[in-house]
Amino acid sequence: MGSASSIKLRVAVLISGRGSNLQALIDACNSADYPAKIICVISNKADAYGLERAKIAKIPTKIVNHKDFANREEFDAALDKALRECKAEFVCLAGFMRLLTGGFVRKWLGRIINIHPSLLPDFKGAHPHEDVIKSGAKKSGCTVHFVTENMDSGPTILQESVDILSGDTAETLAARVLKKEHTCYPAALRLIAEGKVSFIKK
Ligand code: GRF
Repeated sequence: MGSASSIKLRVAVLISGRGSNLQALIDACNSADYPAKIICVISNKADAYGLERAKIAKIPTKIVNHKDFANREEFDAALDKALRECKAEFVCLAGFMRLLTGGFVRKWLGRIINIHPSLLPDFKGAHPHEDVIKSGAKKSGCTVHFVTENMDSGPTILQESVDILSGDTAETLAARVLKKEHTCYPAALRLIAEGKVSFIKK
């Protein structure tokens, strides 16, 4: 990160489900000139389809099931251990549906990013598309941002917008935003891996 070196940034991707953003990152990393590589995919759910995508791409996978731990601190400690074991330098959350503890976030601060399907700071939370439709907004989109201790609140790296069409439902909007996510996430990771964007710790 931050150097012109040809050494690729070692990225771990954390998922909980379908993994279409993971796939977009895998596809980007398949380009010889892409400055990052995915060294591990970690899921908190054993049946996450994203794990299949990783296996097809011959990327090592790990399951760290939150149900195996007494509390969030212990789960996050296991995640941290898994990340260190695979020598991850950077973490991408891609549909990872667990809230991370402050202790974990502080350890990875500036080295962990997320994608959220709204134009943050608007429509944080778990149901952004429904909330956007209800609000009567004219635009929505997606945001790649650094992860900080408050959910969906860290500094923005990149956003892409879509128009909201008459007759849009949460489902049709989600599908249109998802297409943007698949270009936005690899583009944001590229900016970081090339050292063009970084997190300034205050
Ligand atoms: C995406 O909409 C992402 O923005 C949100 O969760 C969804 C994950 O989808 N955080 P996928 O698993 O990447 O297909």
